[in-house]
Amino acid sequence: RIAYVNGRYVPHSNAMVHVEDRGYQFADGVYEVCEIRHGLIVDLTRHLNRLDRSLSELRIAWPMSRAALTQVIRETLRRNHVRNGLFYLQVTRGVARRDHVFPAEGTPPSIVVTAKSTDPSVIAKKNATGIKAITVPDNRWDRVDIKSVGLLSNALARQQAKEAGAQEAIYIDADGMVKEGAATNVWIVDSDGKLLTRPAENGILRGITRTTLIDVAAKLGLEIVERKFSVSEMMAAREVFITAATSICFPVVSIDGQAIANGHPGSLSQNIREAFFDVAE
Ligand code: PDD
Repeated sequence: RIAYVNGRYVPHSNAMVHVEDRGYQFADGVYEVCEIRHGLIVDLTRHLNRLDRSLSELRIAWPMSRAALTQVIRETLRRNHVRNGLFYLQVTRGVARRDHVFPAEGTPPSIVVTAKSTDPSVIAKKNATGIKAITVPDNRWDRVDIKSVGLLSNALARQQAKEAGAQEAIYIDADGMVKEGAATNVWIVDSDGKLLTRPAENGILRGITRTTLIDVAAKLGLEIVERKFSVSEMMAAREVFITAATSICFPVVSIDGQAIANGHPGSLSQNIREAFFDVAE
C-alpha cells in the first residue's frame, strides 16, 4: 500500500508524520472518509465542501488547492488499485514546538491521504444479518459538527459496544433523545412508515451519506421528518438503521440487547440501500 504524506507518495509501512505534529499532540486537525464504488468516488464534492467548512471553523488553511487535492486523492486511489473501498484524508495545523496557541502564520498544514479496498461480501453480510448497537450518554464537546480527529469519546464508545457484543454505540443526549452513532448517523422508521432523523443543526455531524439519503428517500416518495426522537421511540420503531460513508445504510436489529421489531433487517432500509448509488454522485 502507498500513502500520500506532505507532498510524497511513500510505502504505507513507512508513512510518518513528525512527533510535534499538532494532530498528534492536540488532535488539532480534521478528516474525511469517502466511499469508492466501482472505481468512482461517491459524493466527493460534498465531502470536500464539508472539509472546507471544518477547516474554516478551526481556522486551518487548505494544504493545497481543491483541484490539487482532488488530484492527490485520485493518484492515491490509482496507486492502491482501489475499485471498491475508501480513502481517508487528514489535515492538521502542522508541525510546531508544543504550545497550545497557534503556531506562527505560514506554518504549513500537514496532509495525509490513505486508501484501502474493502471486501463487498463483508458489507453484504452485515446488510443481510443487521448489526447490534448499545446506547451511551453523549460526553463529547459541543462542536461535533466539525469533523475533527478528536475522537477519544467515539473510540471509547465503540470499544464499549464491542465488549458488549455490538458493533455501534448510539449517543443519547441529556433529555433521552437520540443523537448519532460513534461514527454514523441514526434513522428510524416509525409506525406510519415515516423516516425520522435528528436535525443536523442539533449537536451531530452532518453526515454526507445522511444528506444523500434524504435525496434518495425523496426520490422513492418516502416521507422524511427531520426531528429529534427519543430512545423509547427508537426501541419501538419499525426499523432502525445507521448511515456513514463506510457503511452506507446498515440495519440495526438489536439495541441494548433488545430486538428491534422482529429482530430482522427491515425492507425500507433495503430499498434505500439499493437506490443509493443511483442518486449519489
Ligand atoms: N464517520 N457521525 C459521526 C460522529 C461520524 O464520525 C460519521 C462518519 C458520521 C457519518 O458521516 P458520513 O455519512 O459523512 O460518513 C456521522 C467516519 C466514516 C469515520 O469516522 O470513520
